[in-house]
Amino acid sequence: MLKLNSHPSGRHFLQIPGPSNVPDRILRAMDYPTIDHRGPEFQQLGKKILGQIGQVFQTTQPVVIYPASGTGAWEAALVNTLSPGDTVLMYETGHFATLWKKLAERLALKPEFIGDDWRSGADPARIEARLLEDKAHQIKAVCVVHNETSTGVTSDIAAVRRAIDKAGHPALLLVDTISSLGSLDYRHDDWGVDVTVAGSQKGLMLPPGLSFNAVSQKALAASRQARLPRAFWAWDEIIESNKNGFWPYTPATNLLYGLSEACDMLLEEGMQNVFARHQRHAEATRQCVRAWGLEILCQNPAEYSGVLTAVVMPYGANGERHNADALRKLILTNFNMSLGQGLSKLSGWVFRIGHLGDFNDLTLMGTLAGVEMGLALAGVPHQAGGVAAAMRSLQESLPAAALQQAA
Ligand SMILES: Cc1ncc(COP(=O)(O)O)c(C=O)c1O
Repeated sequence: MLKLNSHPSGRHFLQIPGPSNVPDRILRAMDYPTIDHRGPEFQQLGKKILGQIGQVFQTTQPVVIYPASGTGAWEAALVNTLSPGDTVLMYETGHFATLWKKLAERLALKPEFIGDDWRSGADPARIEARLLEDKAHQIKAVCVVHNETSTGVTSDIAAVRRAIDKAGHPALLLVDTISSLGSLDYRHDDWGVDVTVAGSQKGLMLPPGLSFNAVSQKALAASRQARLPRAFWAWDEIIESNKNGFWPYTPATNLLYGLSEACDMLLEEGMQNVFARHQRHAEATRQCVRAWGLEILCQNPAEYSGVLTAVVMPYGANGERHNADALRKLILTNFNMSLGQGLSKLSGWVFRIGHLGDFNDLTLMGTLAGVEMGLALAGVPHQAGGVAAAMRSLQESLPAAALQQAA
């Protein structure tokens, strides 16, 4: 007997803001026997990756790679640089900034949270003002999320650096780029970041399971004085072992095959082209959302995320807000597409469209078509024509090189 819906044909559209779709090239690169992680073949792989990865962070400083999710790299950044009871200044951009703060509390740090509305990025003026008050230099680190994945808001890290310098404050700058690295322009060295925290499953197009700390000389010096206990996360042993292309423990060999391929793909495309591609898809998405007549959660156009767009659900005729999770469920069931849910206080309020990683114009059009059909089926008030607006935006913004090649 014919079993209906036993297997959804076609590819699943994984349009959450990470994990992102893993491209075939990376899947193939990982589908390879695990090798001796102390042998010469691995050593070549290790040296290649460690030689390339800095280009993705725009740094010449060490990049420590952990077999862990992003949360592990958050912890690593704190335990390597700080001591019990240290005050850290954190900025409430949204759900992930709040989780990082909770983690700091568990580590016996004293996070001071600059509260905000989850619709804007970190305000450098507020950071500067707080640092100016801190005459005794009790604050040992400033922690900011570059791209707040829960809200689709990007913070200006260069401006945060300037604020710290203007205040003449010695605090370290720790930045979470878990959902921006490999998608948005990010400059560890130029922006004077001390620790950059990143993950594998978003702009790097890998499955979850690897995370990173890019480390400045100032952070390395701080790590020699820092007294928070650390063993697995300790930078020194890893950096020492990395000098020969190895790790001090069994590394995630097959994920490293994938990382090697991901670096090749990003560098072949060119980082500037990767950034421009993300911005172009984000702009087309916003044109679409505006044409639907729906609201974008991010309030300041200068802070729009190139990685995801969080869309606010409108009110219905009964005066109640339509539920984002009901819409997402309907879209998953009918069109085999996953969209990001609203997290913690945004639950049910917003849905998030991921437009990152291994992504092109037609993937975007499929994604937006799925949302537009979903809005209609769910009876969510909107105007038709969002998809058409995105198509126009994509046509009008085709890179000159692509047009020349086609001529
Ligand atoms: C900005 C940001 N920070 C931290 C995390 C936590 O990372 P993980 O879930 O890989 O531990 C995430 C996860 O999505 C994130 O988006």
